[in-house]
Amino acid sequence: MASIKPTPDLRPARLNALGEFAASIAHEVKQPLAAITLNARAGLQWLDQDPPRLEEARAALRIVLEASMAATGMVRSLHGMACQTAPQRATFVVNDVVRDVLQLLRAELRLQCIGVTEDYGPDYQLNADRVQLMQVIMNLVLNAIEALKDIHDRPRTLALRTAIDGGALCVSVADNGAGIPAALAERIFDPLFSTKPGGTGMGLAICRSIAQAHGGCLRSGDARPHGAVFHLSFKEYTLWTPSRS
Ligand SMILES: Nc1ncnc2c1ncn2[C@@H]1O[C@H](COP(=O)(O)OP(=O)(O)OP(=O)(O)O)[C@@H](O)[C@H]1O
Ligand SMILES: [Mg+2]
Repeated sequence: MASIKPTPDLRPARLNALGEFAASIAHEVKQPLAAITLNARAGLQWLDQDPPRLEEARAALRIVLEASMAATGMVRSLHGMACQTAPQRATFVVNDVVRDVLQLLRAELRLQCIGVTEDYGPDYQLNADRVQLMQVIMNLVLNAIEALKDIHDRPRTLALRTAIDGGALCVSVADNGAGIPAALAERIFDPLFSTKPGGTGMGLAICRSIAQAHGGCLRSGDARPHGAVFHLSFKEYTLWTPSRS
């Protein structure tokens, strides 16, 4: 009788991959959905005023549109990552993406009393997937906001910086929270690793794989005198120059 070879049980691996994919989608759309709800509600309130505050309602609706486009783009980009398709590259100015992220999170930053410092270098361009870069910066800023929630004895600060550092284009996101314990410095990038109740632990794993898919890297460090700093860097970049036409 022919022997029957036991087939390896692929289910746990598949389930894990599916679990990580589902966790990634849940993670990435959470923030844009929150921005949509908040701004749609604000828009209705502006319209209900007598007389209706049309300019404010229009501004709220513009954010609803941007956030829903961001969510759609993020789902597409995660799907692309899961299917291992190449990032959809275009050339854009990195400073603009940082500003777009801050615009989407402005209400939350204000609500949490976080003072934001922006320090932009010249308008360097990346040839990369813009939505994915936005995802990375948004996740880093959201982590900073969460790290600052426990800080009550000093003003909460978030510092965003773009610069050329060691020949690479670098975006840094620093907060003055409690920082990252040395023992966790590498584990924080593992999928599903989280120290937060209810955290999916997918944010930094997604960020690092996006950086690497673009030939870049993402590192964490200590901010001075308190807090954590994340450096996202890319070796290949160009300087934006106004077209002469
Ligand atoms: N700015 C920061 N300051 C201190 N610790 C941080 C910071 N950013 C990330 N971490 C640590 O890294 C861990 C992993 O972060 P990651 O974004 O991957 O998941 P999460 O934030 O825990 O969960 P989720 O993103 O689903 O809310 C966090 O749980 C936290 O311990
Ligand atoms: Mg996170």
